This record gives sequence, structure tokens and C-alpha cells, in this order.
Amino acid sequence: MTQTMTMSALVRGFPASGIRKMFERAQRYDNVVAFTFGEPDFDTPDFIKQAAKQALDDNQTRYVSNLGMPVLREAIAERYSARWNRPVEAENVAVAVGGMEALLLAIESVVNPGQDVLVPEPGYPNYLGQIRFVGANVVPLPIRAEAGFKLQAVDVLDRITENTGAIILNSPSNPLGRMIDSDELRKIVQGANERGVVIISDEVYEDIVFEGNVHTSVGQLDEPRMRHIVVNSFSKSFAMTGWRCGWLIADPELVAKMGPLKEGLTSCVAPFVQLAGVAALRDGAEFTSQLTSTFQERRDAVVAAVDATEGLHLAKPEGAFYAFIDIRGTGLAAEDFAHRLLDQERVCLVPGTAFGELGAGHVRLSFATSVDTIQLGFDRIARFISTI
Ligand SMILES: Cc1ncc(COP(=O)(O)O)c(C=O)c1O
Repeated sequence: MTQTMTMSALVRGFPASGIRKMFERAQRYDNVVAFTFGEPDFDTPDFIKQAAKQALDDNQTRYVSNLGMPVLREAIAERYSARWNRPVEAENVAVAVGGMEALLLAIESVVNPGQDVLVPEPGYPNYLGQIRFVGANVVPLPIRAEAGFKLQAVDVLDRITENTGAIILNSPSNPLGRMIDSDELRKIVQGANERGVVIISDEVYEDIVFEGNVHTSVGQLDEPRMRHIVVNSFSKSFAMTGWRCGWLIADPELVAKMGPLKEGLTSCVAPFVQLAGVAALRDGAEFTSQLTSTFQERRDAVVAAVDATEGLHLAKPEGAFYAFIDIRGTGLAAEDFAHRLLDQERVCLVPGTAFGELGAGHVRLSFATSVDTIQLGFDRIARFISTI
């Protein structure tokens, strides 16, 4: 007699990542041109690795404070005091296991079960699972193709109700590569403040912004008594995805309450990782600016290739390293396009619907790869489209 494994409703209904699904499908093939994952293809700079090695030699291998080592919290606070032009203190900072855990801490500490969380769509799919953890509901914030994939304040403010627990914003956006214009952001912050709703602003791509665009943080617009939580990470700016270190900035009273929460989750971030983070913040500006220029060259290569390919259109990426390409001109639906392109030509893209229904008719291309690979990929894409 076979016995069914006991499983919670949470795991049974947990959304699987559409990005992972494409990755798994691509495992069947050799020679795949992969535009799948959102991680810089650069190595972590040597001076950061060196700081971690030194910390290991110094036996920085034990439990440390839940909210982060003081030296890292101070370094993060300094970064924001300089950027926001107002004092940000170490007490405003909580260090976390990547931006992911910072997001979870943020959601857990402000949202109650049964409340609504407003979430960008198309948007980063991991928000959805995290909202489930707390038993809250997802309310999509539409970001429309017709508006050039720019979030409009009216679409946020119209959706705030008595039951809204938080608003998640993400600029520059994964998967869109587009940013929220600062006057729209100002209206959103003002409206959310008036209604007493917390904004959780995911700014993990804040450093990767291309010429002609300027990142405005929610933290620059809000009152000093913060009604917002800003989430960030070492992953993208310093090519440190596998180190798993991020942080959030919030009101000190709220941050203090997150310590016990974090104790029950992951206790603390490894101290040698935190000390590597201190080195990254102290000496990493040049690396980040080179990484951004390299991404800009790749962005330009993608834009030129899309322009040269029949049936494709693109709202030019302003930041991050994603192109959300309109494939409606090919007549195929997003999943069909992505699957057939992979099976026929060994190019891996992610269907836009992996980021919500509003991603229909689009595919996400991550250009965290060389210009040569981008060109090879587009040669194959053009050949594929000519067979449709
Ligand atoms: C929009 C967005 N937020 C947060 C994260 C989490 O990054 P990490 O946990 O590596 O800091 C990612 C990673 O892809 C992302 O794209």
C-alpha cells in the first residue's frame, strides 16, 4: 500500500519559478545560448575575496549579531547618508541573507495575514512566494506595455484600500529593465504616506543605471520618520550573488524588532561574508562603474539587434540587465516562442508570462553575457523567426 506524503497547503500551492523551468528544459541540449539568469557574469573582484580570506584567517567564523556586524551596518549607513543627503544611522540598517531575506524580513514585519500587498506586474516572481509565507494576498500593480512599461502613480494609488498592508516597488525593474520616473515616484510616496501605507522598495539594481537615466530612491523622497523600507544587496553591484548578503534600511524601531525575527530565520549572515561586504562598500565604486559600462555596451548591442530583427520591438532598458522584448509581431505566444526557440535553435529566453499575465506577448532576455554571445543569439533568433 502506498502512503501519501503529508504536505502543507503552502508547499502544495507554492508557485514554481518560470525561469527555473526554462533552465531545466535547456539542460537537454548542448551549445545553448543562455539569456536565462539574472546574475552578472563577472567574477567577484579580488580585493573582496581577499577581505573574506583574511577574515577566515582571523577566525571570523562564529555567530554574530542578528542585525549585522556594527562595522557593516555603519558602512551601509554611510553609503546612504552620502546618497540621500541626510543622516542614516547604523540603527536604520539590518543585514540579511541576500536581498531575498531582506525582502522577507520587510514583508513579515509590516504585513498581517489577510492583508493585500500591491506587487508590480510584470514583476519579480519571488515576491509572490514571500507574500504567501505571511498569508497575505497579492494585488497586481499593472505596468503596461502601452505606457512603455513605466509604472504610473495612478495605477498604484487607485489600488490602495483599507486592507493594503504594503506596496512593493522595484526600479530599475527585473524583468523590464525600465525605471519609475521620479515625478511618478514622488506622487506614489506622497499618496502612500497620506494613506499610511508602507512602501517596500526593492532597489537591488540601483547602481546599474544607463546614461541619461537617474535612479531616485524612495528614501530620498520620504520624510525622515520613515514609512518605507529600502532593500538592497551586494549581489548585482559587486558580482556577489553566491555570497548571499543584502540589507534593508528602515525606521530604527522597526529594525530593532526584526532582530528576534531574524534569529528564528537564519540567525545571522556569516561574519567573513559581512567583512567582504565592508571591503566592497569601501573600495568597490570603480568596479561597479566598470560593470555598469559593460552592461551598457551589451544593452546597446541588444537594442541594435532587436531593431534589426523583424517582428521584435523593445522599450529600451534604462537599468538592470534585462530586455523585455515584444514578440507579438511574430504571431506566437510567449511560451510557444520560448520553447520553440530553445528546441529549434538552442537559445534560452524566459516567457514574459513567468512574470505575470501582463507579460504575455513578451520574452525576457538577460544580457548578463558577452556581446559576441548576444550577436550569436540574435543570429539564431532571426533564423528561427524566418521559419515561423
Ligand atoms: C528584483 C530583484 N530583487 C531581489 C533579488 C534578490 O537578490 P539577492 O537575494 O541575490 O540579493 C533579485 C535577484 O535576482 C532581483 O532580481
